[in-house]
Amino acid sequence: MAPLEEELRARLEREGQAHLLRFWAELAPAARRALLDSLAPLLGELGAHCRRAAAGAQERGPESLDGRLEPVPPEFLGSACRSDPATLQRWGEEGLHQISQNKVAVLLLAGGQGTRLGVPYPKGMYDVGLLSHKTLYQIQAERIRRVEQLAGEAFGARCSVPWYIMTSEFTLGPTEKFFQEHNYFNLERSNVVMFEQRMLPAVTFDGKVILEEKGKIAMAPDGNGGLYRALVDNKILEDMEQRGVRYVHVYCVDNILVKMADPVFIGFCVSKGADCGAKVVEKAYPTEPVGVVCRVDGVYQVVEYSEISLATAQMQNPDGRLTYSAGNICNHFFTLAFLQAVAEKFEPQLKHHVAVKKVPFVDEGGNWVKPLKPNGIKLEKFVFDVFQFSKNFVAFEVLREEEFSPLKNADTADKDTPTTARRSLLSQHYRWAVKAGARFVNDSGQRIPEKQSLSGDEEPPAVCEISPLVSYFGEGLEKYLKVKELQSPFLLDERKAETLARA
Ligand code: UD1
Repeated sequence: MAPLEEELRARLEREGQAHLLRFWAELAPAARRALLDSLAPLLGELGAHCRRAAAGAQERGPESLDGRLEPVPPEFLGSACRSDPATLQRWGEEGLHQISQNKVAVLLLAGGQGTRLGVPYPKGMYDVGLLSHKTLYQIQAERIRRVEQLAGEAFGARCSVPWYIMTSEFTLGPTEKFFQEHNYFNLERSNVVMFEQRMLPAVTFDGKVILEEKGKIAMAPDGNGGLYRALVDNKILEDMEQRGVRYVHVYCVDNILVKMADPVFIGFCVSKGADCGAKVVEKAYPTEPVGVVCRVDGVYQVVEYSEISLATAQMQNPDGRLTYSAGNICNHFFTLAFLQAVAEKFEPQLKHHVAVKKVPFVDEGGNWVKPLKPNGIKLEKFVFDVFQFSKNFVAFEVLREEEFSPLKNADTADKDTPTTARRSLLSQHYRWAVKAGARFVNDSGQRIPEKQSLSGDEEPPAVCEISPLVSYFGEGLEKYLKVKELQSPFLLDERKAETLARA
């Protein structure tokens, strides 16, 4: 054995991980090289990582936080649903103003494996079956283009909203290729910046790194809170600084209704002088399994449903609303200065969350095993765990049917599926079209009676899809749709909009 390998073996032995070289003799030179390369960056922290994972698995369920909890105080909670139109307009204008000054960037968290959806490619490439067959990535790209246009028109400036995309080893290659094949959806190439988060080894309950193949360690992305290390690793904050970015809207890939760089949210946060903010939706029912934004011992946090008792989850205000109703939808606002402080100072304090998973492995005899029950631990950091470091945190409540419909599961589930995502978007576009004065007819020319109030869970009576390039939040549709009879299914894209505007 070469000295380098001997040293590695000794080191792994000291860390209790010598089994990682169990099949060394069988490995071809290239496979040996690959294993060494994957071990090298881990070595410094490997022992601590394994001990932390094993200790995490021993812990009993989370302790109840009842009694230490307080809801977000009303003065720090804005609302898109309960504010008057003039206030909303003021926030919207403030947001557009910041965008027009090139001070706003969006940052997509797209490093997750999307295991629940069960497709072998990144979730952003998913087509939920819209008329246009646009993927989540394309919808998002077009919303960026439209919001740039709105801000440019409002303030007479050419502006751009850079799009930072955090990927992982699983998603970087296919995402890059997809963007290249689609010409970056006509965004300025230099304004799309992809970078990679780190990976961490999966560990058994007794603290041994899992071998997925004879020469390959089972690795998983380090959670969406891996963002903060990835920003440093890839010098992203410097890039933002150079571009003059001051505010960053961070969001996750799977929400088909996400409003990229939402001017109202940005404007609200900026007007309040916030360094950190979260968009929330009202929890639908006490036991809905979403994290709740609240304060614990005076600091902001997202608390999981499992960390509070049923009685606390059911508590109501005098107006009948749930006391802990601020459901996290993974849409966050950060100032660049706050991100810099987290990166420089606070990141090491972020806690690790333990996820117990079924991790395929090779057994001592070298056989590949697909476990039937959980056998491994993955440690993850969460993006919202930085709220505790905020000096001026705000939350902003938005309407679920307008802003939140995530794609989490395959169509075999009844919630958060391609079907529910498609329905939410088409319901929204139907509502916009009817509000703008459109009337729908079926293929025999018969009028389809309008439904005035339509929730995101209901199938709209007519199918209408509106390109984000035409309208970002329902604005400006009257000139195309007012008193027009449209045959369902109807797709309003840029070309169609031009024809209708002339008609
Ligand atoms: C997330 C939120 C949850 C919220 C819900 C709303 C976190 C930790 N949880 O839950 O509070 O109620 O969204 O939909 O934010 N990702 C990475 N790297 C990783 C892991 C995930 O970039 O290592 C990305 C995913 O690609 C996705 C986002 O983070 O875009 C959210 O991850 P996911 O695992 O889907 O979180 P949820 O459990 O759905």
